[in-house]
Amino acid sequence: MHEFKYIGNELHCETVKISDIAKKVDTPFYLYSYKTLLDHYYKLKKAFSSINPLICFSMKANSNLAVLRALIKEGAGLDIVSGGELYKALRIGANPKRIVYASVGKTDKEIREAIKNKILLFNVESVPELDLINTVAQKLKRKVDVSLRINPGVEVDTHNFIATARQDNKFGLDLDTVKFLFSNLKRMSNVNLIGVHIHIGSQITESHPFIEAINIISSFVDELKKDGVRLKYFNIGGGLGIIYREETPQTAQGFAKAVLPYLKKLRLKIILEPGRFICGNAGILVTGVLYIKDTRFKRFIIVDAGMNDLIRPALYDAYHEILPIVESKFKSQNLEKADIVGPICESADFLAKERPMPRLESGDLLAVMGAGAYGFSMSSNYNSRPRCAEVMVIRGKFYVVKKAESYKDLVKGEIIPKVLR
Ligand code: LLP
Repeated sequence: MHEFKYIGNELHCETVKISDIAKKVDTPFYLYSYKTLLDHYYKLKKAFSSINPLICFSMKANSNLAVLRALIKEGAGLDIVSGGELYKALRIGANPKRIVYASVGKTDKEIREAIKNKILLFNVESVPELDLINTVAQKLKRKVDVSLRINPGVEVDTHNFIATARQDNKFGLDLDTVKFLFSNLKRMSNVNLIGVHIHIGSQITESHPFIEAINIISSFVDELKKDGVRLKYFNIGGGLGIIYREETPQTAQGFAKAVLPYLKKLRLKIILEPGRFICGNAGILVTGVLYIKDTRFKRFIIVDAGMNDLIRPALYDAYHEILPIVESKFKSQNLEKADIVGPICESADFLAKERPMPRLESGDLLAVMGAGAYGFSMSSNYNSRPRCAEVMVIRGKFYVVKKAESYKDLVKGEIIPKVLR
């Protein structure tokens, strides 16, 4: 469910006509619905209300400050993966005691900053990382709380690039290593091992892989209990899938119903790290048609958004629905297959392939749906294209929440050495 709907003949974001926004903001731009964002957060919060979990929004999905601010105002915590994300989180006034930090490659500097800022937990992914956290904590004369990320080794039906719990993935620790670490706690004078973490992958539409993973962790936690180890946290990660095409993902309620019986038995504080579920359908990419190019083989609809703006189709062959801002464009005509492509010099620069589309013309506006997660956050300056603007509709008004970059921004920080002058 989301708040991008046709009212009359025109696609709206909540009550605001998208074509009106496009009169003020150059395309391409990302457009977010505040209401959809909050609705999804509350769907999850309500579904899990019986255990009152800490919901840490995974900010890699969308780290726009306004998006983050909207969520933390409602009590969300944040799942971070870098010093940059910590910086942004603190900038918007996030409570460090609601920040958890994953990533397989935390640097010395990042660890120091996170300890100094007193985040809730590190999700540790390797033994040398744990050693480094211990050393840094020692130097800072602090004792820090740590969860160990366990790779439960479950198969997940999703794109290979976003499955993270197979035995041969780089993420997390295997159970034997985790057991070893818990039984050799003494050598870690400055860390408290107080939790376990999993994140089995992304865009998962069924509950059974979660249940399988949770069961593996539950038996493990029981074993630890027998050995006298008391944990406080179990972080079940993110990964809840959304509808891009014809998926029938579990609802927040369905997911909660499936996993709650297992989670309740554990009697631990549960942490969730949803990203896509909260912001995926809360955002679209608005793009303008530049040219229609008919070749002997194909029709190309060339638009002003490229793979630098939205890389998901190029990287994962991801499907995003593409809607005309004016609905009658689609309804009144015979549709013909076309590739919707960007201006970038790569054949992978497409938003859709072989998509039934009406006859469009230069200046028509299109909405690339489901672009709120891993859209802007994965954008780049490839082909020296400034990153586009981000806009949010809040209670009937729209706000530019990030200005489009300028050409000047493109050269920021670049230096021509004297010898070349
Ligand atoms: N927690 C951890 C430790 C993660 O690595 C991730 C995502 C999440 C939570 C949030 O997962 P979500 O709820 O959003 O599925 N760029 C890809 C997705 C990569 C996901 C990386 N990790 C895409 O565009 O589909």
